[in-house]
Amino acid sequence: MKLGWLNLILLLISVHCLNYSWSEDNQQQRVSALTVLEQPEENIGKRKEEATVEDDLDPEDMEVFYPTNEWQIIKPGQAIPAGLHVRLNLETGKNEAKFPNDGNGKNGLKYWKQGNRHGMVNTDSKSFTAEELKRALKLIKQDGLIDIDESHQEKVQKTFRPIKELMEDFEAMNVVMETDMEIINKLVSKFNNTSATLENKVAALYNLEYYVHQVDNAQHLTAIGGLQLVINALNATEPHIQENAAFVLGSALSGNPKVQIEAMEAGALQKLLILLATDQPVSIKKKALFAFSSMLRHFPFAQQQFLKLGGLQVLGQLFQAKRMESLRIRVMTLLYDMVMEKKLIQEAHDWSTQHQEKCHQYDQVNLLPSMLEQDWCMLVPQLLMSTEHDTREKVLRTMNLMISSCRSEYQAMQGLSSLLNMLRSEYEELAAEEQREGEQDGYFLGLLHSANDIIKKLE
Ligand SMILES: *[C@@H]1O[C@H](CO)[C@@H](O)[C@H](O)[C@H]1NC(C)=O
Ligand SMILES: *[C@@H]1O[C@H](CO)[C@@H](O)[C@H](O)[C@H]1NC(C)=O
Ligand SMILES: *[C@@H]1O[C@H](CO)[C@@H](O)[C@H](O)[C@H]1NC(C)=O
Repeated sequence: MKLGWLNLILLLISVHCLNYSWSEDNQQQRVSALTVLEQPEENIGKRKEEATVEDDLDPEDMEVFYPTNEWQIIKPGQAIPAGLHVRLNLETGKNEAKFPNDGNGKNGLKYWKQGNRHGMVNTDSKSFTAEELKRALKLIKQDGLIDIDESHQEKVQKTFRPIKELMEDFEAMNVVMETDMEIINKLVSKFNNTSATLENKVAALYNLEYYVHQVDNAQHLTAIGGLQLVINALNATEPHIQENAAFVLGSALSGNPKVQIEAMEAGALQKLLILLATDQPVSIKKKALFAFSSMLRHFPFAQQQFLKLGGLQVLGQLFQAKRMESLRIRVMTLLYDMVMEKKLIQEAHDWSTQHQEKCHQYDQVNLLPSMLEQDWCMLVPQLLMSTEHDTREKVLRTMNLMISSCRSEYQAMQGLSSLLNMLRSEYEELAAEEQREGEQDGYFLGLLHSANDIIKKLE
């Protein structure tokens, strides 16, 4: 993201900006608190639509990790800012993170980065005035970096403090100056270092995952051989490495055709299938399924191979496996999306050669017929018992998609019609409430239509 983060919309917090209290005896300079959260201009860089990243939609994953100087547990799936120390606590098996030690503890100022946010955080003071906040905002707007402005220079001169020394206190800023590619190079060599500890390797993957969302960065990872390393790590002996490797891979593949092709050639699909087919902890399966989805979406060749390699059977087993209930909806969503993808391509009125070629590729992907053969008519409606509207929405959508082929199975399913009727009443009420609140095309009305459609078609 380089220095594109200049354009900030939001500045929150806290600047006790450069509060130098200088005393002749210790010459200690205190750069105290400054915490800036900012969001760069919309669409900065080429962060892709995250819609394809189905991985982490759980509320727990949305939680923000606030680093401190103490080790704190990172919750499963929780994203952490780059630049932190991450370790695996071998006693608890949990990942933990904190700010890197700064050696002398003198400077509590840290650069951090999370999602589209960058900022500085001060770890040793919390009091800021509005004036200081404004000043930091101004400085950042001007230069993209906090610079030493004139008033500071005056202070500096008064205290005979060379700028060079001041800048040393801002050494954390150098992180900002590094390009993403340099950071990726470093992370890859950290991960590839045979003498690195497990926690260091996990940390390198964790941080890498953040960077590879960007198309260019993922392609850079591929170009320097890092993608192959990550793919090789899918069958590492250490589960934490496997899990994080799958996470990096999924993010790198997502919406990135060049990387999809490279990963396909490097054998990623087979390795992911093995993870999905064998006995593994849920956390690994979840990330493997995420990477698998990113590999298959909008890539008909991979979809074809997926069918050839028996991938649909593997997904069917995963769908029915004990303790894997949390993955069912993800499996079904992936299948639905692939069926829709083909349908939309085929229905598009586009006579260009490029589109015709695409159609031809999708012609080879016979997912829906295979699903019908493998009992997906019976599997999908099982999820309709969910109490969650979002899940029901996806199930109804998928049932609707399959209904012309699954009609007789649905009709024969014990309890399905009464369940549908129950849902209909529930959504009638919720939709009416929605309308009373002035919402014409509400969410629940959509669900009601969906349920009604199926009921009608089953009559
Ligand atoms: C690998 O890590 C060790 C220990 O952290 C370090 O001393 C060494 O320089 C690293 N090697 C490379 C090639 O980066
Ligand atoms: C990883 O390290 C090996 C030797 O230790 C080296 O041959 C290889 O090129 C490195 N791979 C990457 C991607 O840096
Ligand atoms: C991972 O699989 C490759 C072959 O696909 C094999 O060469 C390698 O030894 C395996 N690694 C581990 C740790 O089992």
